[in-house]
Amino acid sequence: MTGSEERARMPIESVVSEPHGRPGDPCAMVIFGASGDLTKRKLIPALYNLAKDNLLSKEFSLVGFARNEMSSEEFRAKLGAEISQFATTKVDDALWHWFSERLYYVSGEFGDPAAFRQLNAQLKEIERNHGTKGNCFYYLATSPSFFSPIVQQLGNAGLVDESSGGWRRVIIEKPFGRDYETARNLNREIRQVLDEKQIYRIDHYLGKETVQNIMVFRFSNGIFEPIWNRRYIDHVQITVAETVGVEQRGGYYETAGTLRDMVPNHIFQLISLMAMEPPISFDADVVRDEQAKILKAIPPMTPEEVLTRTVRGQYGPGNLGNGNVPGYRSEPDVSPNSRTETYVALKLFVDNWRWADVPFYIRTGKRMPKRVTEIAIQFKRAPFLLFRQTSVERLQPNRLRMLLQPDEGISLSFGAKIPGPIVRIGGVQMAFQYKDYFGTTPSTGYERLLYDCMLGDATLFQRSDMVETGWSVVNPVQDVWDALPPRKFPNYAVGTWGPAEADEMLARDGRQWSSGE
Ligand code: BG6
Repeated sequence: MTGSEERARMPIESVVSEPHGRPGDPCAMVIFGASGDLTKRKLIPALYNLAKDNLLSKEFSLVGFARNEMSSEEFRAKLGAEISQFATTKVDDALWHWFSERLYYVSGEFGDPAAFRQLNAQLKEIERNHGTKGNCFYYLATSPSFFSPIVQQLGNAGLVDESSGGWRRVIIEKPFGRDYETARNLNREIRQVLDEKQIYRIDHYLGKETVQNIMVFRFSNGIFEPIWNRRYIDHVQITVAETVGVEQRGGYYETAGTLRDMVPNHIFQLISLMAMEPPISFDADVVRDEQAKILKAIPPMTPEEVLTRTVRGQYGPGNLGNGNVPGYRSEPDVSPNSRTETYVALKLFVDNWRWADVPFYIRTGKRMPKRVTEIAIQFKRAPFLLFRQTSVERLQPNRLRMLLQPDEGISLSFGAKIPGPIVRIGGVQMAFQYKDYFGTTPSTGYERLLYDCMLGDATLFQRSDMVETGWSVVNPVQDVWDALPPRKFPNYAVGTWGPAEADEMLARDGRQWSSGE
């Protein structure tokens, strides 16, 4: 790149906000299930990154809580050995030393009142020694069956009581329930102990910069809003394709499947951010009200619609470019006759004034040829009449693609005249890539979510009504699928873009999937 090109790509300073905010509040964090993968892979590296960026209070402390017997010294040593493997940046010895002095461990069963009394004592000592001011948040990184029992124990031990001044919050991992009923029950149970404003239901997709950028892109640029509706948009496609299979999670996946695992949470977050009305402020409830309205506007499908507007798939053996890969039914902890889907495609609508009759096609699957998460917005085709007398056969519709991962950016395709005496049109792209303008700051994706929780900002967390509405849209699909076992699973090979029926579903509407070409 030349010097002037490089300058042209520098962001305009006036639109770039302060890179760093104030540090999070003084607080203690308790991780339930601290010996699991999430802690070492994401949470500790994310906290380290916050400390490095001065976004972690100097009055911070962390307690790991899990069933394994371990002393605080052993916990420190374990995390110290793991951090270099999982950190997204080079670990500074002095900073790690500072951080590790704030780590403690309590071992106990999640249902044992004595263990929670011990935790209480540990937190009191931490408050005295580290000045955490009685603020505390609990991260439930356990199997979902423990979410409610842990919250009950926290309540019984007085650990979520805010009456003495400090704040108390609880972050709950997904899956939040496995259908509408179980999500509602879980909400009811935890709300007997917690106020809604103390509950932070995490969806790690909202920690991704590019997902947060959907709102900035839509609402900080005046040119898109006027065309962001059914008059100009033909349809929307959301693709979340993964190359990985189910890895070591066969046991969980057999009880979930792709529909439950990806749609009511991650994909519905993308739809709601893409389709919501402009909120009147960035206040957490104002933003989430608008998101919730979109989810409530998705009409649940009738059984007949499930037959024509959904496709499920399961990967069979195939090739991913680096040798043969087994099919889903040969993965660890998966039944050899499993009917669990590893691929889903749906045609949904958002039945409101802005989006009536605009299809939202979504698809997500494992073991696809490449990893890509994108929202593609296809605009209506321009009238053809002017080109009838030329050699142009058809006009390509404009397509705006928001590439959320891994090559983060935004591109707009349009037609341009191919130079020469004959009128011919070639498809070209205007493309923005994050890395060209802002570089890449490796992160775990959990930094912002932990930081926001420390500041009491729940905008990027799911509210109970959003979770319940998400399930109420997905349940009718699951019910029909459960009643009608799939006829020919596996129905797509590893390394392909899913079952042919998904292409046929779009072809019936005269359309085709946007990525994957
Ligand atoms: C998780 C799902 O919530 O999200 C996984 O349980 C999936 O099955 C993962 O692989 C995808 O997240 P990401 O950040 O890799 O796109």
